[in-house]
Amino acid sequence: MYYGADYYPEHWPRERWAVDAKLMKEAGFNLIRVAEFAWAKLEPSEGHWDFSWLDEALDVFYKGGIQVVMGTPTATPPKWLMDKHPSIYQVDENGLVQGFGSRRHYCYNNETYREYSEKIVEKMAQHYAGHPAVAAWQIDNEFTCGDGLYCYCESCRQKFIGWLKKKYGSLDALNKAWGTVFWSQTYTDWDQIIVPKKSQAAMFRNNGHNPGLNLDYSRFQSDGIVEYCKLQSRILRRYSDVPITHNVVSERYDYYKLGEQIDIATYDNYPASPWKSFLGGDPYDPAFSIDIERGIKNKNIWVMEEQSGPCGWNVVGSTPRPGEIKKWAYQAMAHGAEAMIYFRWRACLFGTEEYWYGILDHDGIPRRRYEEVKEIGASFPKICEYNVDSKVASDILMIRSFEQQWSHEFQSHNWNFDYRTYVKGLYYGLYAGNYNMDISNEETDFSGYKLVVAPAFNLMDERLKAKFEKYVADGGNLVVTFRSGTKEMDNSMTERTLPGYFKEVAGIELEEFDSLNDCKVTVKGDFGNGEASIWADIIKPVTAKPMAVYDSEYYAGKPAVTVNEYGKGKCYYVGCDLDTAGTVALMKEITGQCNVAPALENVPAGVEVVKKIAKDGGEFWFAANFSGQEAALELPFEAKEIASGEILGKSLVLPVHGSAIFTRV
Ligand code: GLA
Ligand code: ZN
Repeated sequence: MYYGADYYPEHWPRERWAVDAKLMKEAGFNLIRVAEFAWAKLEPSEGHWDFSWLDEALDVFYKGGIQVVMGTPTATPPKWLMDKHPSIYQVDENGLVQGFGSRRHYCYNNETYREYSEKIVEKMAQHYAGHPAVAAWQIDNEFTCGDGLYCYCESCRQKFIGWLKKKYGSLDALNKAWGTVFWSQTYTDWDQIIVPKKSQAAMFRNNGHNPGLNLDYSRFQSDGIVEYCKLQSRILRRYSDVPITHNVVSERYDYYKLGEQIDIATYDNYPASPWKSFLGGDPYDPAFSIDIERGIKNKNIWVMEEQSGPCGWNVVGSTPRPGEIKKWAYQAMAHGAEAMIYFRWRACLFGTEEYWYGILDHDGIPRRRYEEVKEIGASFPKICEYNVDSKVASDILMIRSFEQQWSHEFQSHNWNFDYRTYVKGLYYGLYAGNYNMDISNEETDFSGYKLVVAPAFNLMDERLKAKFEKYVADGGNLVVTFRSGTKEMDNSMTERTLPGYFKEVAGIELEEFDSLNDCKVTVKGDFGNGEASIWADIIKPVTAKPMAVYDSEYYAGKPAVTVNEYGKGKCYYVGCDLDTAGTVALMKEITGQCNVAPALENVPAGVEVVKKIAKDGGEFWFAANFSGQEAALELPFEAKEIASGEILGKSLVLPVHGSAIFTRV
């Protein structure tokens, strides 16, 4: 399996390449990623190709025992191309045409851009397919990262019309689905169709547009991105047998659909960026994100960019503390990463990311961070014996759906509701007790799970109703929360009594609900107490039994959480958001009732443990200490540390930032 770094040969003098290759080899590396932004070096002017510098670099590294992930450079269309075809530029929601100077300035739906992309991908495939140095391909780089919301250009509008014709067949069907009778929005000719740019009616943090139009536009844009990826993967597959990857981050497209176009999903992991509000900064953020990535193809992933130094553009984040690089790498591997590629080998002397430190600083001299990476490298092959093709031992599926996310996005129900944050909160409710889980979409086969959690599962239809009901009737346990089943698939409101399509399986009706604006409601439950601050469904049990009731407001005493026996299984309905302590307590109660065990019992707070099953069926565990102090774990068995081979006995002491991988002796 691969251990390495992202490397930009075009940024360094040729004489340095061999020095870097040697240092890399000594650190246990066998892979670099190259070329993903090098369009202007590969095609300096239209039709003039220059692969010589990259050929030479590949030779140096391959001779040094290092292979490459070859990136297609389409995230950075060069200036000559943009000047020749300015229609390629994205147009933002305000109608503003993007300019040159950064990256990702292209529209995925622009046919001219698609043609140029195909040309360069084909040239690269012809030139490099079969090259022994090429271990994999990466398509583009981080689709939609840093883009505006979506593109709203004329190419997009034209394609959207085609997309709608295919979906609805007739304008009558479209008008009905979107409810265009509202505010005289009826379309009488396909060419009248608009894209939901910011309208004059944009107010209240909402773009003012028809919800059916908004949701279809999200679906359409997502499909365009997936189609653009497919365009490239189709060409690469024609020439090459090695795996095709994409580093999947940002959330503007359906990960699961993109997953069908690639062989391996990869993730870019920055646990301590200076942009916490944007990228997150809680220790469990990488755990959550990588569990999501593993769900893209329901298979292990690679980390294509792993933080290895202080990082930033305008400001610089913290320097990784001793032990942190290893802890982050172990955490990523625990949650499904098999390959570990650090970003970046060395801090660049110029460009937007000149503050982004890598394993080496600007001066290229190996220091503490290099030594830590090298130490992990020394035991990496041993770790891989266990970790490659292993599975996270998980009885829980958390549903994370992009369609649901988009439907909540323009209409968040409450100022403080955010779908991803809410899913993450429930995730933490389980994570805190070291309950490992898979995260994937509603199309996943539920049958292998003891517990399925469906947060704010808004859009529903008969097919999904039957799927959820069958799962529970057959003995599964389902958790559904507030704002589930309120809508039809076209983003219109359901006429059914709430919780709509979940009414029968949950065995309840909602009498009323309270969107909590500037007020909090206390909740008293069998499992403990909590507080709701976003939403409170006032539940009338039909066949369900209350597990918690409200303790304040005019609905004090009315059920807030219920459980219903349905066939051989149970459906839990969580009618309100709960604070962290309440969520943790509720999840502990539910997992207990469903016989779901944690990865390990009695783990000190702030220590993360993941239990995994190796390909030979053997069990092993990852532990990482995020508590900020030394932590001691008591183990119910005699253990051996995998990387060092050290026999631990029945306890494991983790220093601050310590991490370990262990198995039974
Ligand atoms: C992303 C990109 C990289 C680099 C890093 C740091 O993950 O893929 O090219 O820009 O962020 O900003
Ligand atoms: Zn466009």
